[in-house]
Amino acid sequence: MNNLKVNPLIGPLTGEITIPSDKSISHRSIIIGALTNGKVKISNFSSCADCHSTLNIFKNLGLDVDFIDDKTLIINSKQGLIKPDCPLDCGNSGTSMRLIAGILSGQKFNSELIGDISLSKRPMKRIIEPLSLMGAKIESDENKAPLKIKGSKLTGISYESKIASAQVKSSILLAGLFASGETTVIEPYLSRNHSELMLEYFDSDIKAYNSDNKFYTKIRSSFLMPKDLFIPGDISSSAFFLVASSIVKGSDVIIKNVGLNPTRTGIIDVMKQMNADIEILDYRVVNNEPIGDIRVKYSPDLKGIEIKGEIIPRLIDEIPVIVVLALCADGKTVIKDASDLKNKESDRINSLCFELNKTGADIIPTDDGFIINSNGKKQLKGGAELNCYHDHRLIMSFYVASLVSKNANIINDFNWVNTSFPEFLELFGMLGA
Ligand code: S3P
Repeated sequence: MNNLKVNPLIGPLTGEITIPSDKSISHRSIIIGALTNGKVKISNFSSCADCHSTLNIFKNLGLDVDFIDDKTLIINSKQGLIKPDCPLDCGNSGTSMRLIAGILSGQKFNSELIGDISLSKRPMKRIIEPLSLMGAKIESDENKAPLKIKGSKLTGISYESKIASAQVKSSILLAGLFASGETTVIEPYLSRNHSELMLEYFDSDIKAYNSDNKFYTKIRSSFLMPKDLFIPGDISSSAFFLVASSIVKGSDVIIKNVGLNPTRTGIIDVMKQMNADIEILDYRVVNNEPIGDIRVKYSPDLKGIEIKGEIIPRLIDEIPVIVVLALCADGKTVIKDASDLKNKESDRINSLCFELNKTGADIIPTDDGFIINSNGKKQLKGGAELNCYHDHRLIMSFYVASLVSKNANIINDFNWVNTSFPEFLELFGMLGA
């Protein structure tokens, strides 16, 4: 347990930082790289606990892993996946559990996926249902982890998902690599497409298109070609710096090497709509993924807006810190269509409202989002003790809110930040916090 007292910030945030590696792409570099039957050099791999859970699982599945330095590794999957001799521990990571379940369903061996207390409460029906339709045999207690998976022969299906979820889509597509025939996933809105872009980069037989306002991805069993990968910086981690720099007076910050895949940049679109001063520099594409630097400055005229519909999957993980931004904007911000926030590392709708309201905020929880009222003064009362519900994104959002609070807050269990962003405090320190 470690509780952190966060004092209000007096000076501005200024300088240049390089943001650590994207978690979603880091997970996929191991999960998909391990299916290539060859050597893949991965540069700028994430140091967070979640991505290391994925890496450890694949070591248990027979993957050779050789670290050249702490962010560069060569994985070698020549022997293919082998039966693990222990349960596979996903820790706190829903991405690990849901994506890897897709692959394990189509193997010739049995396996078991386990997770920590928070992950063991999260819904797995969303993947068990489609994978079972493909022929997977997954045993669970009320569709929650642990998942006992009996390796089975899979058949391709066409599955229309009610929710736009990259974890559901990726789980089915990865199972589709081991299934006979074609597998199609249909989504109501486009969720992050890193799996598709990486599978295409490794030469798999995959195509994506939209028709009649629905998003289709089709895959067939393919031979994946091993190639080297560079992982961009994480826009979800950048979000805390984007928001903090917009609300702390006098700030001017450049964030280098950020992944700018349009399925992830909803935060930038929303911030621009709210009058934030944000500029993209040095835009380029690396291994199918767009990357750039972002310059963000203090924005005195932030205004409240309505956030709903197709943009929600493009900023789902950034909503906690967008709520903090909205608390510093003039007028009301309404967030709708985000009921899946209740199924994240915590019930983010209720936990966020309950905790931030202790600091003097006026946030009303709704069934599918929030109503945030603010007078644009960019200062909360603070002086609260904030609980984190084993949820790293709550901790980091509370930290940002504390920088503009009148009185210091205490954030309990701050060490949970390591599940996604161990460098968080060090980087804020480099900018003057
Ligand atoms: C992720 C997808 C999102 C996101 C999660 C990471 C991924 O979840 O919230 O943090 O890497 O595929 P859903 O796909 O369930 O919305």
